[in-house]
Amino acid sequence: MSTMSEVALPQIARERYERLEARTAKIGVIGLGYVGLPLSLLFSEAGFKVTGFDIDETKVTSLEAGRSYIFRIPAEEIQAAQKKGLRATTDFSRLSDMDAIIMCVPTPLTGHREPDLSYVENTSRAVAPWLQEGQLVVLESTTYPGTTEELMIPILEAGNKGGLKVQSKGDPKERGVFYVAFSPEREDPGNTTVARHNIPKVVGGHEEIATDLAATLYQGIFTHAVRVSSTQAAEMTKLLENIYRCVNIALVNELKVLSLRMGVDIWEVIDAASTKPFGFHPFYPGPGLGGHCIPIDPFYLSWKAKEYDFNTRFIELAGEVNEAMPAYVVQSVSKALNQHKKALNGSKVLMLGMAYKKDIDDLRESPSLTIIELLREEGAEVLYNDPYFPTVGRGRHYNLNMTCTPVENLDQYDCVLIVTDHSDYDYQDIVAKSKLVVDSRNATKGIKSPKIVRC
Ligand SMILES: NC(=O)c1ccc[n+]([C@@H]2O[C@H](COP(=O)([O-])OP(=O)(O)OC[C@H]3O[C@@H](n4cnc5c(N)ncnc54)[C@H](O)[C@@H]3O)[C@@H](O)[C@H]2O)c1
Repeated sequence: MSTMSEVALPQIARERYERLEARTAKIGVIGLGYVGLPLSLLFSEAGFKVTGFDIDETKVTSLEAGRSYIFRIPAEEIQAAQKKGLRATTDFSRLSDMDAIIMCVPTPLTGHREPDLSYVENTSRAVAPWLQEGQLVVLESTTYPGTTEELMIPILEAGNKGGLKVQSKGDPKERGVFYVAFSPEREDPGNTTVARHNIPKVVGGHEEIATDLAATLYQGIFTHAVRVSSTQAAEMTKLLENIYRCVNIALVNELKVLSLRMGVDIWEVIDAASTKPFGFHPFYPGPGLGGHCIPIDPFYLSWKAKEYDFNTRFIELAGEVNEAMPAYVVQSVSKALNQHKKALNGSKVLMLGMAYKKDIDDLRESPSLTIIELLREEGAEVLYNDPYFPTVGRGRHYNLNMTCTPVENLDQYDCVLIVTDHSDYDYQDIVAKSKLVVDSRNATKGIKSPKIVRC
C-alpha cells in the first residue's frame, strides 16, 4: 500500500513526515492503559522516541521505575524500552515537543448507558494549549462517527495558544495548521495467534495530508495501514467490527440455550459448522459479554443513531440477549443443585475465573461480577479463584471486597462454577475432585462425567 497520496505536502507537514518515515519522530501517547502502554512499547521498539502521558500518577511512577502494571507485559519490556528512551510523565507541557500525539483514553458509558466522552474532552482540553504547527493528533479511543470532527477538533482549535486551525479539506496551507486523524485500536487482549504488528491499522484523516501522516506514523510499527476517506469512516469501521461480534455472540448465546434444551451440543455444532470453508465464522457462547469494548461500543452508535431518527434494532436485541446470560448461568446453577437435592440458598459455590475472558487480567464489565451479585441475592455463599486477581475490591459498578480462594478441597463446595476458562486450570482434576461442576464455557470439553452440567 502506498504511503503518500497525490497531495503535495506543505513544508511543515513534510518535516514531520520525514521524521516519521525515518522513525526519528517523537511520539506522545496519552493514556497509558491496556491500549496506550503496549502501543508505546511498539513505537519504542521500532526506534521512535516515545513519551507516555497520563493523569494517573501511580502508572507514571511505575513506568518510570521500570515496573509493569499490566500482567501480560513483563517489566523487562518496560526496562528495555526505557533504555531506548521511553519516558512517562504527567507534565502535558512536554506535548509541544512531539511530532505526533496519540490519544488512548477511556470511552465508557454513563450510568444511563449513554456515551461518556468526558475523557476525550478533558484530554483534548489538556492537549490544546501545547499544540504546535504541523503536529499530528490521532484519536484511537472507540467512539461514534463524528466524534473527532464534532468534539475533538473544535476543542483543539479553541484552546491552542497560537490560533492554529485544523488543516481544512482540499486546500493545503503552508502555515498555521495542525493535522487530525482517527485510527481505531484493534488489539485483542490475550490473543496469541496474531502478532500485534500484523493487525492492519485503519487510518482516516480529517483530510488527505493527515491521512498521509497517520499512515506513515503507523507503518513504522504495523505491517499494513488501511486508509479510509474520513475520520467518520475510520470511527464507523471499529463500530462495525464490534457490533458484528456483539450480534453474532448474541446469536450463538440464544442458540446455545435452545440447543441445550433440545439435548444438542452447541459446541459440537459450531465445530462442525466451522469446517465449511466459506460463509461461516465461528463465535462461541458464554456467560455474557465483558471487557471495555463489546458490551459498550455498540451503544455509542445506538445513541448517535437517534440524532438521525434511527433505531438500531440489531444492537438493542443483541444487548438484550447478551445481558440476560449471567441470570441464565445462575438459573442453571440453581437447577443443577436442585438435581442434587440442594437449594441455591445456603449452597457454597466456588467460581472459577473473574476476568471477562481467558488468560487476561481485565475485570471490566465482566459477567462474573453480575453472577456473584445474583448468586448472593439468592442466598448462596460465593468464593472465587482467579490466578490474575489476588483480590477483587470495588470498581465502577461493583463493591465486592473478596480475596482469591485456592483451588483446593473442592469437595467442600456444593458447586464449582466455571465462568472464565483460564488455561492455568486443570479441568480434569477439578471435575474429579468436585461434587458438581457447572461449566459456562465448555472448558470441560472432552471430559465425560455425570458431575458436569454445561450451560
Ligand atoms: N482494552 C482493549 O482491549 C481495547 C481494545 C480496542 C479499543 N479500546 C479502546 O481504547 C480506549 C482506551 O482503552 P483502554 O483499555 O486502554 O483504557 P484504560 O482505562 O486501560 O486506559 C486509559 C488510560 O487513560 C488515562 N486517562 C484518562 N483520562 C486521561 C486524561 N485526561 N489525560 C491523560 N490520561 C488519561 C487513564 O488514567 C488510563 O491510564 C477506549 O476507547 C477503548 O474502548 C480498548
